[in-house]
Amino acid sequence: MEIERVGVVGSGTMGHGIAQVSAMSGFETVILDVKQEFLDGAMKRISSSLDKMVEKGKITKGVKDDTLVRIKTTLDYNDLAYCDIVIEAALEKPDVKGRVFRQLDSVCKRDAILATNTSSISIDEIAKFTKRPEKVVGMHFFNPVQVMKLVEVVKGKRTSDDVAQKVRELSEKMGKIPVIVNDAPGFVSNRVLMPMINEAVFALHEGVSTKEGIDSVMKLGANHPMGPLELADLVGLDVCLDIMNVLHSAFKDNKYRPCPLLAKMVKDGKLGRKTGEGFYRYK
Ligand code: 3HC
Repeated sequence: MEIERVGVVGSGTMGHGIAQVSAMSGFETVILDVKQEFLDGAMKRISSSLDKMVEKGKITKGVKDDTLVRIKTTLDYNDLAYCDIVIEAALEKPDVKGRVFRQLDSVCKRDAILATNTSSISIDEIAKFTKRPEKVVGMHFFNPVQVMKLVEVVKGKRTSDDVAQKVRELSEKMGKIPVIVNDAPGFVSNRVLMPMINEAVFALHEGVSTKEGIDSVMKLGANHPMGPLELADLVGLDVCLDIMNVLHSAFKDNKYRPCPLLAKMVKDGKLGRKTGEGFYRYK
């Protein structure tokens, strides 16, 4: 089976980026979400990202127009029936993943691959919601999807070698560099990255330095392109907290306990760039 038609479930920060990269790489792409306003917002973000690329001379106006023509939006799962692969990028909550994968399994053609962009939830657990665990795989993109090179391809215990290989090839066709890892809480990326971000929040909480001080130390001293608190704002504080909770409950080790300041900021709706305020304020 050649992959020609890609479905994306969820049109938020990750979903819109995945859909854009997919359509730019020549795939017919359908984005599904639960509200039309979310889909309209995603199309606006994609269009303005493409406009910036045209302005910078990275792509032509023709490439922008062709990309937009390849993207359809829908509120109806039946429109994903003929996709060769569906990449789920919905909320990072196990019950949401369960609902989405049950629906996908019932509407998608039998040989379709069901991939998830989950940042930490077990692929084996998600596969249990389907009758095709050999076709369930992690396809973990990084934010901003249009820029970041990595796709962490996560192989569950029952993911077939053929499916992992197809997803590896698809990632390359999307201009990404795939790295195959096994299913474990947080995989490699977020098992390493999120405790660092959480520790930076502890350092702020305990008054070790200011937010700017902590970010400068890591930018200048470890050559990170962004400080950990700036990065938390980019990723979303809610996403960071969800991932720390997954690590904490999976490993049952207190070294993964989320910093109370992180939990408080999420409770107060300070989720980072997407709400206009996190550790920093955004226009
Ligand atoms: N769409 C398209 N292009 C974009 C973009 C977007 N959303 N955001 C940035 N770019 C492009 C810019 O246009 C620019 O292109 P150019 O070099 O051709 O001019 C290039 O990316 C660099 O952007 P900027 O000049 O605006 O800014 P920076 O040089 O500071 O780079 C950054 C921005 C790429 C975000 C950089 O700071 C960075 O790499 N930060 C770290 C990001 C990171 O670690 N992401 C992973 C998060 S973890 C994750 O996603 C996993 C999840 O499970 C939690």
